[in-house]
Amino acid sequence: MVRMNTMRTFFDGHAPHWDGYQRPSDFEQVGRIIDRVAPGPADQVLDVGCGTGILVPFLEAKGVRRYLGMDISPGMAAQFRRKHAHRDLLVGDFTEENLRPGSFTLVIVFNAFPHFDDGERVFARSFQLLRPGGRLVVAHSMNREQLDEHHRKAGRAVENHVLIADAELRRLYKQAGFVDVTVENTDHFYSCGRRPPAASSAARRSTRPGLRPRQAE
Ligand SMILES: C[S@@+](CC[C@H](N)C(=O)[O-])C[C@H]1O[C@@H](n2cnc3c(N)ncnc32)[C@H](O)[C@@H]1O
Repeated sequence: MVRMNTMRTFFDGHAPHWDGYQRPSDFEQVGRIIDRVAPGPADQVLDVGCGTGILVPFLEAKGVRRYLGMDISPGMAAQFRRKHAHRDLLVGDFTEENLRPGSFTLVIVFNAFPHFDDGERVFARSFQLLRPGGRLVVAHSMNREQLDEHHRKAGRAVENHVLIADAELRRLYKQAGFVDVTVENTDHFYSCGRRPPAASSAARRSTRPGLRPRQAE
């Protein structure tokens, strides 16, 4: 909780200047990542740790209409509302929120994952909130090495917020139930997993732990 409050205060303090920190190359990376994700008008998007809403124009350009931003920092939320008054926003802790399970087709955690205390919970909650076939994307406009260095220099509140290793991230996706997992650390960071489509979700539900599907019927 202390870590959480310190971090919230940190982002509240940076919120008024946040958009000014972004370099043209950051926006180029956002564009590449959103091109890769390729959302569309049929998507229902949850933007976790949305900050001031950097992703909003990129998602709108792809035709996304149904969008919910969520952020724990009231300062970031105030900037978001100033820029994107027409968009839905929730102020709160994603790991404690009470959203309806199965309501989203895409959960994006952009430039935010290392700030969460409990990575397992982020994956488990995302899985619950996604419809069968929906995707969780955890991405950064920098690669892992640049990001860790950036956090080390950014101040005490975030200096230890490192991005976990690829293998650990894959483990979290798989443990939560995601399939088709991709993790790539290039000049930016991109990872994605899919909640299995309905048929295989139903098969999983009908399987009691330790029993094969046939035995569970
Ligand atoms: C580095 S900023 C990135 C903001 C935005 N995604 C962007 O790229 O500009 C990380 C954001 O995650 C938010 N955040 C951190 N922990 C959170 C939590 N538990 N629930 C919701 N938001 C959280 C912070 O308040 C902050 O706005």
